[in-house]
Amino acid sequence: MSILLTGGLGYIGSHTAVELLNRGEDVIIVDDLSNSKIIVKNKIMQITGKKFKFIKADLKNLKKTEKIFKNNNISAVVHFAGYKIVGESLNHPIKYYENNILITLNLLKCMEKYNVYNMVFSSSASIYGDQNEMPVKETFSTHANNPYSRTKLYIEEILKDFYNSNNKFNFAILRYFNPVGAHESGLIGEDPNDTPTNLMPYITKVATGELKELSIFGNDYSTKDGTGVRDFIHVCDLAIGHALALNKLKEKPGVFICNLGTGKGYTVLETVTTFNKVNGNLVKYKFVERRSGDIAISYADTTKAEKELKFKAKYNLEEMCKTSYKFEKNNK
Ligand code: NAD
Ligand code: WQD
Repeated sequence: MSILLTGGLGYIGSHTAVELLNRGEDVIIVDDLSNSKIIVKNKIMQITGKKFKFIKADLKNLKKTEKIFKNNNISAVVHFAGYKIVGESLNHPIKYYENNILITLNLLKCMEKYNVYNMVFSSSASIYGDQNEMPVKETFSTHANNPYSRTKLYIEEILKDFYNSNNKFNFAILRYFNPVGAHESGLIGEDPNDTPTNLMPYITKVATGELKELSIFGNDYSTKDGTGVRDFIHVCDLAIGHALALNKLKEKPGVFICNLGTGKGYTVLETVTTFNKVNGNLVKYKFVERRSGDIAISYADTTKAEKELKFKAKYNLEEMCKTSYKFEKNNK
């Protein structure tokens, strides 16, 4: 039996593929390469010394999706595929609703038809929006404030409806906080097609000289140094979280919703300072206006992940900064 990783050549999917292959799982990756490169397939094989099947397909296409389920013996789906850039989603909402929601519906149709009952889904802490209280618990109300985040929220609701219609299914919905870092080999990491909008990939490109200077969006928040606070989590910790979530599905939990974060908040300035400390003083920055739509502080309550998933993040911010830069240098 194989685990199907949708979007498995992307940033989080590729690290999860490594984790699962290293645990002896049989993995199939499907990806349309819209935001990833085929070379990642060889890098995963190089890191693990294991082979796996790769299928290039756009999961918006129901016929192609169905063929994958018909021709393979799939036990579970880990569903990463989707578009993920908040700013782009504001300008192209239909593109986001169409891709993220349609591919999920196609997967669910095929899972039902071919009796595949387990799915781990990549959700996002951005669905919590702005909260008065920290840390953020899974029980908090949701306030998605852009089309990207709304696709995640709607998909969560679709999965719940689907479960209510057929209790055989199990869904582990993982709400990631801010994934950063890269595999220690430096072979795989975050490799956006366009100029990055997220903090860490922007920092690494300033460090290599590809971008000139980091703009820090706002230094007048009510935080210790005035810059935003986020819960950065190493992507290899996230990958372990997925392996544990797949185990959790074997306990037949129905719909299981869980934060994946470290539970620690670091300011943007602390992050840049740590990056400069561990990698050499490479990143110049300036303070500019706040970015519209940003929240001041976000970090996870990790109690549920620790208790019910047995998950505890182990990488610290220094390791996140070191590995991010190592990948960027190798990949330049
Ligand atoms: P990514 O863009 O690196 O990976 C997504 C992969 O999906 C890409 O390889 C892309 O080519 C593929 N894909 C997109 N549409 C497809 C389609 N129609 N058919 C087949 N493949 C398709 O993104 P990532 O950072 O690895 O994120 C993975 C998932 O986690 C996404 O769903 C994202 O929304 C979610 N997430 C990411 C973050 C983050 O900060 N990276 C945070 C929270 C949630
Ligand atoms: C982090 C902090 C910025 C860039 C988004 C999505 C979330 C998830 C991760 C997908 C903020 C500051 C950033 C820069 C800066 N993705 N910043 N200069 O906004 O917390 O979350 O990405 O699911 O869903 O909402 O992440 O990395 O963009 O920003 O000062 O050039 O860094 O203002 O405080 P964010 P981010």
